[in-house]
Amino acid sequence: MVDIDTVISLAKQRGFIYPGSEIYGGLANAWDYGPLGAQLRFNIKRLWWQQVVEQRPDIVGLDGAILMNPKVWQASGHVDTFHDPMKECQACHRRYRANDLDTSNCPNCGGSLSAPRDFNLMFKTWIGPVADSTTPVYLRPETAQAMFVNFRNVLNTTRQRLPFGIAQIGKAFRNEITPGNYIFRTLEFEQMEIEYFVEPANWVEQFEQWAQWMEQWAQQLGLDIAALHRYEVPADERAHYSQRTIDFEFDFPFGRKELWGLAYRGDFDLRNHQIQSGEKLEYTDPMDPTKKFLPHIIEPTMGVDRTMLALLLSAYHTETVNGETRVVLRFTPQLAPYQVAVLPLARKPELAALTEPLYQQLSKRWRCDFDTTQSIGKRYRRQDEIGTPYCITIDFDSVIDHAVTIRQRDAMTQVRVPLNQVDQYVHDQITPTS
Ligand code: GAP
Repeated sequence: MVDIDTVISLAKQRGFIYPGSEIYGGLANAWDYGPLGAQLRFNIKRLWWQQVVEQRPDIVGLDGAILMNPKVWQASGHVDTFHDPMKECQACHRRYRANDLDTSNCPNCGGSLSAPRDFNLMFKTWIGPVADSTTPVYLRPETAQAMFVNFRNVLNTTRQRLPFGIAQIGKAFRNEITPGNYIFRTLEFEQMEIEYFVEPANWVEQFEQWAQWMEQWAQQLGLDIAALHRYEVPADERAHYSQRTIDFEFDFPFGRKELWGLAYRGDFDLRNHQIQSGEKLEYTDPMDPTKKFLPHIIEPTMGVDRTMLALLLSAYHTETVNGETRVVLRFTPQLAPYQVAVLPLARKPELAALTEPLYQQLSKRWRCDFDTTQSIGKRYRRQDEIGTPYCITIDFDSVIDHAVTIRQRDAMTQVRVPLNQVDQYVHDQITPTS
């Protein structure tokens, strides 16, 4: 697998990911997504939303607020239990997650370490002009809670019956003790989460179905499946709300680590919100109105940023072509930032007369780049490096035969296609499932 520095460098050079606040010297573990990174993330999220919300009658979407009533985080257990044990070096004052340490002294300076103490990972802030410690609010550390506290609203405003789910994409924030490994562990990140409500007796079967769905989705994204592994998380490592968790781990260049998670949360969340809020959150069986109960929850959860990192690593390939190294990102056409690049051979009016209408036509259906700079060979290389599956070259013969050359990224094959058939050709190549 490619090393992480090579990916960081390519991602910066080609406009996927920049260091955050770079002109001020950066901010540790903050990253900005550039033009291609923003598009790639959007494509991942759109595909997820299409599959999870738009193409399933049993799941509805939600877009909850980041700031929630602080009682939510009391009820969810995050105020009391969402912490990592931390040790601090008495000499250099570096802080470490106690679980990550395999020495009894500071890995940085060798100084002695404090006893472990709990460090809550939630970012605290306040509402209004005065910092009043009695009324803190928190930046949400997971998107999940908005789906639990809106359970009754969704039930009352949709025709959903068990089993059904609520899905959400949004930012989450954690004051991680040891962020790092590029965009793997950051303080601000985005999650795509599903809370799937089931009859308590059916959780085992539903859990397995979701585990399989997550693997299929990994395949559809184009992740390196050989690098993906299920890890049955033992009880002492599970989050406070979980009765069973499978981590989907990925072989990152810095080790095998959690990419996504699948948790069985039982009725932990609905029960605690019912108690703390005093509001009934029970479900009434439509076949038997005397049967009221709290549904149990299966939660498939995925980080957008980690997905993007796994995708960049999976897509990255090098090969030797005519004695030169070619770098190519093999994104699926559905996810590639650009699907088509329109490349007139030269900046000449007779080529522009063909190119501009073609770009106007194609860009209505496909994500199109347009590039007139440098040699055609260099332009192909650039498009390979950003993963564009099809390059369309308009040359001087095009003026005569009204045809263009279409080059396929992976096989590098070239075909001549009449101008008026280009849109159909691209459509035939980029099938909805590709
Ligand atoms: N609602 C359940 C939940 O939040 P989690 O395992 O703590 O579970 C879910 O987080 C996913 O969010 C992870 O599998 C990972 O993809 C992503 N994630 C968690 N912490 C992250 C961080 N600090 N930086 C980037 N992604 C993170």
